[in-house]
Amino acid sequence: MAHLDPVAFVRWFRGSSPYIHSHRGKTFVIYCGGEAAADPGFASLLHDIALLNSLGIRLVLVHGIRPQIDARLQARGAQAQYHAGLRVTDRTALECVKEAAGTVRVEIEALLSMGLANSPMAGSRIRVASGNFVVAKPVGVRDGVDFQHTGEVRRIDAEGIRAALDRGDVVVLSAVGYSPTGEIFNLRSEQVATAAAIALRADKLLLLVEEGGLTRPDGAPIRQLTTGEARGLLAEAGALSPELAPHLTVAIQACEQGVKRAHLLDRRIDGVLLLELFTRDGVGTLVSLAPFESLRPAQVQDVPGILELLLPLERKGVLVPRSRERLETDIDDYRVIERDGTIIGCAALHRFPGTDMGELACLVLHPDYRGEKRGERLLAHIEGAARAAGLQRLFALTTQTAHWFRERGFEPADVADLPEARRAVYNPRRNSKVLIKRL
Ligand SMILES: CC(C)(COP(=O)(O)OP(=O)(O)OC[C@H]1O[C@@H](n2cnc3c(N)ncnc32)[C@H](O)[C@@H]1OP(=O)(O)O)[C@@H](O)C(=O)NCCC(=O)NCCS
Repeated sequence: MAHLDPVAFVRWFRGSSPYIHSHRGKTFVIYCGGEAAADPGFASLLHDIALLNSLGIRLVLVHGIRPQIDARLQARGAQAQYHAGLRVTDRTALECVKEAAGTVRVEIEALLSMGLANSPMAGSRIRVASGNFVVAKPVGVRDGVDFQHTGEVRRIDAEGIRAALDRGDVVVLSAVGYSPTGEIFNLRSEQVATAAAIALRADKLLLLVEEGGLTRPDGAPIRQLTTGEARGLLAEAGALSPELAPHLTVAIQACEQGVKRAHLLDRRIDGVLLLELFTRDGVGTLVSLAPFESLRPAQVQDVPGILELLLPLERKGVLVPRSRERLETDIDDYRVIERDGTIIGCAALHRFPGTDMGELACLVLHPDYRGEKRGERLLAHIEGAARAAGLQRLFALTTQTAHWFRERGFEPADVADLPEARRAVYNPRRNSKVLIKRL
């Protein structure tokens, strides 16, 4: 603690609080390859997973076992067999699959059970649930090659997994599935993770990959992609490494089938999950179906996010303080811009029955997101809503932003021009300027 800058710590902790709030109760599927389990940093990764569990996030961890199977085959003097990039699992390989899956799973369970006083998980008790949640079917014979015990996901027992998540357990899935005939199949762990995320309608699929994230040709990291943009990138020859392309493909598949967001993260960065989930811009590449920013009507669940946005401006006196109750009552008047689960902008349209005027109030953008026309987008949206409601004039009261409004068609006016109901609550001590725009 001696080296910790208290100011930076407090700023960081406050900065992460909206994310703690927004992730609670959400379902995340985390995928890592068998390489992660073989790495000395695996314990730290599992500590971070334990921390996420303690913050009320519903977690499914899917792990691969490819290097562990290969090592076992080698120890037996057997050759790993692949056809078209897929393992052919014969009897010997199946023995190795069972051993590898069992060993890695037990190691994960042990690390998640660690309660040592000096570990980050001191005092927490985490239950791990694993079991026959994945129903498999054989890949069968392809190009004349019998894949034997190599299988595909047939179904995920989403109900069973949900029951375990409801109890607060961390669910661990291996690259193994069982058929209704009682056979064991070796599956691709990425496929298990994707199928589980889709079946659970997960909020996030977090893919921990063995490479740095996606970059643009100039080397700059790509932080967000829509599924359409991601497809474009896949179609571009040489744009992606052979390691990343399959991961981006499953990310697209998951998003197109109901998973809200998929993230590609470099597993080798210490604390990568925490950096991605609790900092504003993250460290990986986020894939989502729609543009990940949306302007939409506010809901009561947005009230904490809106309050968080308004507070600094209320403290500075730029905005009149609004209570939580008042926001909740007026929530239908508000529009918000949501960016990856966080409210970064808002504006309200208040109506005055019996008049042709509406008030544009509470127009705010988070300081990190100003100057990119979001304010204008919100204004245009509110103007559209006002017109649709049959209003002819929009007014705004402001102490410090009059010029912003004037540059966008608002004219200076007097308090006397306001609807009577608004005049009655006008605060002369605030002495706000009145601006009116004809729609
Ligand atoms: C005013 C505000 C909503 C604009 O949001 P935004 O997304 O940055 O807006 P836009 O990108 O559409 O416009 C940016 C332009 O407005 C200008 N601007 C920002 N604040 C201004 C102000 N107080 N007065 C005059 N111009 C201002 C910027 O300098 C920029 O102009 P430039 O491109 O010529 O440099 C945002 O700055 C904000 O949240 N401010 C604090 C809250 C506030 O004052 N709200 C008004 C409620 S009364």
